[in-house]
Amino acid sequence: MDRYAVFGNPISHSKSPAIHTAFAQQTSQVLSYEAICAPVDKFEETVKAFLADGGKGLNITVPFKEEAWKLAVLRSERAELAGAVNTLYLNQEGLLCGENTDGVGMVRDIQHNHGYSIKGKRVLILGAGGAVRGVMKPVLEQQPKQVVIANRTLAKAETLAALFAPFGHITASSFDALEGPFDLIMNGTAASLQGEMPALPEGMLHSQSWCYDMMYSAAQTPFNQWAEAQGACQQLDGLGMLVEQAAESFYIWRGIRPDTSSLIQIIRNELL
Ligand code: ATR
Repeated sequence: MDRYAVFGNPISHSKSPAIHTAFAQQTSQVLSYEAICAPVDKFEETVKAFLADGGKGLNITVPFKEEAWKLAVLRSERAELAGAVNTLYLNQEGLLCGENTDGVGMVRDIQHNHGYSIKGKRVLILGAGGAVRGVMKPVLEQQPKQVVIANRTLAKAETLAALFAPFGHITASSFDALEGPFDLIMNGTAASLQGEMPALPEGMLHSQSWCYDMMYSAAQTPFNQWAEAQGACQQLDGLGMLVEQAAESFYIWRGIRPDTSSLIQIIRNELL
């Protein structure tokens, strides 16, 4: 049986085994998918042992996405720019290839699942860490009118804006200096994890603005609470992104695109 796994540390919380097992059942693919807790100082050895043992593909999560990027012999342009890899697979020559499906998954959730087009929109992205860097290229591929990256530490937003400047109209800002309104605001800060919301000025939204938190939780995230209070037209969390990035990995490995809508609903119900 073809073996797949998600590597992280810690990993027991991961929903990836349940998601991929459901995809496999739905598409009649015979495979196994397990969660592997790699020792923090032995990521490479653990990956190589898995591949030597017949492993066909891997998902990579915290804290190993940058190490996976380094380990990949070939990387897609998206993965190259993301500086992080969440999907590893062997190509026909047996070379280890790295892809990053986070951004494609988020864009697919916004555009395909929710029917919102990013093209021509004025977009604000909050945060300038790994999560934001990972989604920048796929967002810019949709040709937004403008992207502003705002971060608590301005210098990090400036670095990201410079890195992605060849791919669109993109600027950096502090939170204080932001000038709204924006059509779409995405939260990629870790603030929600701490139950916090970045301090944004008034006037960030208009009545048709959409908000997207890359985080998800059973209760509404602090960012989405803010969005609702500010009168956003729609506020979405990152559960759809989680399932869609998995579907992209599954497609890379198996060449079949699973249906995600029913699974997103099942996981949502389980969270409640
Ligand atoms: P990740 O890989 O999840 O993106 P990271 O690279 O550590 O993690 O980045 C965390 C991001 O969340 C950063 O943009 C960070 O801002 P700084 O660069 O100023 O540190 C942001 N962040 C974390 N806690 C925050 C908070 N309470 N308010 C606003 N931004 C926060």
